[in-house]
Amino acid sequence: MKTLTAPAPPPAPTGPAEVVLTLEHIAKSFGDNHVLRDFSLDLHRGENVVVLGKSGSGKSVLVKCIIGLLRPDAGRITVLGQDISTLDHEAMDQLRAKLGFLFQSNALYDSMTVRENLLFPLRRQWLADRRGKEKELVQQALEDVGLGDTAEKMPAELSGGQRKRIALARTLILQPEIILYDEPTTGLDPITAREISGLIREVQQKYQTAAFIISHDMDSVRLVADRVALLADGRCYAQGTYAELAKHEDPRVHDFFI
Ligand SMILES: Nc1ncnc2c1ncn2[C@@H]1O[C@H](COP(=O)(O)OP(=O)(O)OP(=O)(O)O)[C@@H](O)[C@H]1O
Ligand SMILES: [Mg+2]
Repeated sequence: MKTLTAPAPPPAPTGPAEVVLTLEHIAKSFGDNHVLRDFSLDLHRGENVVVLGKSGSGKSVLVKCIIGLLRPDAGRITVLGQDISTLDHEAMDQLRAKLGFLFQSNALYDSMTVRENLLFPLRRQWLADRRGKEKELVQQALEDVGLGDTAEKMPAELSGGQRKRIALARTLILQPEIILYDEPTTGLDPITAREISGLIREVQQKYQTAAFIISHDMDSVRLVADRVALLADGRCYAQGTYAELAKHEDPRVHDFFI
């Protein structure tokens, strides 16, 4: 007897996600030290990409190129549709407001309370539209990182993991479309590191931010990465999911995963 089955629903439209950051053939040398030779990578809206690489391979140089602190010798960087080499100082500053950056050192101001630290980036001219909403914005950002009751504390009163959360809250208050994380879990104990990795995922899911994450911490890479890119020989040597790279046949790739 023939069984009738309902036709399967058509697949949901899954067009390619918008590209928010493009690195094309980036080269950067310091004298004879050819750090980046030909590095290309795209980042899509809502995606977490982790860049892995040995110490000295050029990961921080890459991030400095993206935020405009270093100018590549060759290649093109496009952020939210704008070729950053064409931007003047003011336009670059405005673009940076859409790019959150979490420093490895957190870069909190020790003499300011948590609230003052969070308000600092909002004081800038082009964020005047957010004036009058400071209190709510601070509270929302603190709650996003699970530290809603710390606004009046000083950074010195907080643990390393809490300071990292506050630094992330200060990035979130600008409502960035892309967040760059430089070694977000380095120096934290494994449990706190795992909590920060979880938070990076929560932020991604809540705000659909794209993240460009530099990390050595393979536990964190496994937890946060939608895609992993390996920087070696100045280029994107390999890319794929964590699972794909972990079983890659090239030992230069899979050695990171053992
Ligand atoms: N401003 C600079 N002037 C000269 N050389 C530099 C400069 N910045 C970086 N370098 C060199 O570029 C290379 C890559 O440095 P980078 O800091 O990007 O490495 P990294 O991959 O971030 O390493 P780590 O994992 O240790 O942070 C190094 O050889 C470094 O000495
Ligand atoms: Mg570095």
